[in-house]
Amino acid sequence: MIHRISVLLSLCLTLFPFWTGSGVPTSPQGTDMIKKEAFGTSPDGKPVDLYTLKNKHGMEVRAMTYGGAIVSIRVPDRKGHFDDVALGFDKADDYTAKVPYFGAIIGRYGNRIANGKFTLDGKEYTLPKNDGPNSLHGGNKGFDKIVWEAEPFEKPDEVGVIFKHTSPDGDEGYPGNLKMTVTYMLTDKNELIFEYHATADKATPVNLTNHTYFNLAGDGQRDILGHELMLNADSFTPVDKTLIPTGKIVSVKGTPFDFTKLTVIGARIDQKDEQLILGHGYDHNFVLNRKDKGLTLAARVYEPTTGRVMEVSTTEPGVQFYSGNFLDGTLTGKQGHVYKLRYGFCLETQHYPDSPNEPSFPSTTLRAGQTYHSTTVYKFSTR
Ligand code: BGC
Repeated sequence: MIHRISVLLSLCLTLFPFWTGSGVPTSPQGTDMIKKEAFGTSPDGKPVDLYTLKNKHGMEVRAMTYGGAIVSIRVPDRKGHFDDVALGFDKADDYTAKVPYFGAIIGRYGNRIANGKFTLDGKEYTLPKNDGPNSLHGGNKGFDKIVWEAEPFEKPDEVGVIFKHTSPDGDEGYPGNLKMTVTYMLTDKNELIFEYHATADKATPVNLTNHTYFNLAGDGQRDILGHELMLNADSFTPVDKTLIPTGKIVSVKGTPFDFTKLTVIGARIDQKDEQLILGHGYDHNFVLNRKDKGLTLAARVYEPTTGRVMEVSTTEPGVQFYSGNFLDGTLTGKQGHVYKLRYGFCLETQHYPDSPNEPSFPSTTLRAGQTYHSTTVYKFSTR
């Protein structure tokens, strides 16, 4: 037995020379907290790198340069057992097929723009229609489909990667060169922080977000309907049959959209509610209750079997709660797990969908000389 353990240990040390495998850093310099490795190639043949970030509690986040996508998030359950709570694939090449934005940076405009058109300063712009009549998540080649430049960094209480990209004037129909940095930080408080900065040389709509699918039960092996969700939102933006907001902001009170208290996701999802039918479940933007423009709690999710809790805070005015309604068992993810209906959910912090065509919604226009800045924190714990 002891022999077997020591063989296993030396195998671990050979395979992971920087880590003990227990999550405890071995190097006094702390250089064991971040690792870079090759992760295949993008569809246009560019090499893709994978960064592994680890904190002092053993929480581990992997992100790749293709789409800046989060590939995995390993967090403990209430007994200290680590599982991966993000859906994804084992190698970059698997992300190049038709994948529903697993883990990726979304832009230039996260969510839908009606009829692939908007008018800005009197000029009409046309975007690719990649979602029925609408333009979704930045068009045919959004920021999820490019290889980002990456620069890792380490600070005393956090490790991270800065992803950089400049989207050229006219990219997918959008005006102006848009220069961006998206910083991922893993802190010693078990927080995964996304910080977005952008500047443009012409006015353009910008709505950046992250599209990680979570399953807090771990390893995407069952649906997320038993998770409990709280959304700090007294109202939401109902949609038409193409999932474009009607322009109204409606109270959630007395509807299956009331998540103001922790509620089981599956409790009302099959009700004959018009909005649930249009969304094929939850696929709606919630209007966050906020006192100021600072970081505000947007959502809390609790998974009762493992005790895992995820809290989402953001500077954004809205969050899209998407219950994985278009996952249909055709994708086989990490470790051969088949992602079936509602095996993952997304909480995409954002400005409201179709804001460029909806003057009553908070503006998404970034003008030359201004700086776009947005922060979202996903904090993990157990109870
Ligand atoms: C949208 C869904 C869409 C999914 C992509 C979400 O952000 O709200 O309607 O299907 O992204 O697969």
